[in-house]
Amino acid sequence: MEQVVLLVAGARPNFMKIAPLYRAAQRHPEISCRIVHTGQHYDYEMSQAFFEDLELPAPHHFLHAGSGSHAGQTARIMIAFEEVCQAVRPALVVVVGDVNSTLACSIVAKKLEIPVAHVEAGLRSFDRTMPEEINRLVTDAISDYFFVTEPAAVDNLRREGKDPAHVCFAGHVMVDNLFHQHEKLSHISPRTFSTNTLKESLTDYAFLTLHRPGNVDDKEVFSGIVSALNRIAEERPILFPVHPRTRKKIEQFGLVLTPRIRLLPPLGFREALFLWKDAAVVLTDSGGLQEETTALGVPCVTIRTNTERPITVEQGTNILAGTDPDKIVAACRQALQSDKGRKGCKPPNWDGKAAERIWDFLLAGPLMGVRPALAG
Ligand code: UD1
Repeated sequence: MEQVVLLVAGARPNFMKIAPLYRAAQRHPEISCRIVHTGQHYDYEMSQAFFEDLELPAPHHFLHAGSGSHAGQTARIMIAFEEVCQAVRPALVVVVGDVNSTLACSIVAKKLEIPVAHVEAGLRSFDRTMPEEINRLVTDAISDYFFVTEPAAVDNLRREGKDPAHVCFAGHVMVDNLFHQHEKLSHISPRTFSTNTLKESLTDYAFLTLHRPGNVDDKEVFSGIVSALNRIAEERPILFPVHPRTRKKIEQFGLVLTPRIRLLPPLGFREALFLWKDAAVVLTDSGGLQEETTALGVPCVTIRTNTERPITVEQGTNILAGTDPDKIVAACRQALQSDKGRKGCKPPNWDGKAAERIWDFLLAGPLMGVRPALAG
């Protein structure tokens, strides 16, 4: 009998992770995969644009969580997701990444005694001031199955006492998606992108994303980062799609960015890839982009003092700069000069087949012989 699996996504980086899982599930008729979109991100550019680019169907369940305090947002997701679980009675809930939706839905499922699989489990920044670190710790504390992207995460889960039989070193679904989209991009005319004229007018540019509360919510820290970016932009222009949180903070703090930093609206997945894949260097505080640049061999400077994704530094193209302005400028110079960029070696199992491994693991055990779904 077909079994219902709920695939949970709420914020931008989740959508890239569920897309390959959903696609791979279509090859397994014994699974009926339903997408739950919590509505944590809701603007067209932050949500629907991704569903379109990533070839995802409209969500089967949309929870309208919206923005707010962490407690308020998490609570709204929990209340709405509980209703979905009670109506659908899924055989399994799959959560991805480390956002508030990941935390909220794993708690709800476990309290209803529904097994939970966490994709991108075991990552630790060891920095509990990051909301994502709390989300990772709580989700992994209660999940049943752990799909892991790099060896450090296996070590973390072992230290936390997880049963090794429930930990699967699957590789990275984000990289599955990246390779799939990179291939698609090669068949799309650059003229279809709104940034094509801008890109063509530049011989050399950097690409920037910035949205971590630790970087943009504090005026002093954010001013320091902006001063470094203004210096970097003297040598090459920077293309900067601005996250809504960051745009608000630039206005609130009255920060002045040089015109050589081109502010863009948030971009869909393909348009962002179209720009960053050819950048001389990517500057970021995103988790996903640290990994995606490693997967494509693009130099990356991470504007953070720590990373929960150490393999990108050990084997990939990532350089951890911290947030001190001089160190950011120096790291950027190093990324452009060293042979780390454009060469970095690809981490094990980052081969585009992670989603297949995940379903194979689940169908070989967890999804065999569990209670049948009641969903209509
Ligand atoms: C969330 C995730 C973070 C992830 C990021 C990717 C948590 C704790 N954080 O952070 O891990 O890296 O998404 O973008 O889950 N807003 C809009 N439109 C939207 C969504 C948000 O304008 O569609 C504004 C809201 O005013 C909100 C602010 O952006 O206050 C921040 O959004 P929120 O989802 O709370 O956190 P992010 O910073 O996006």
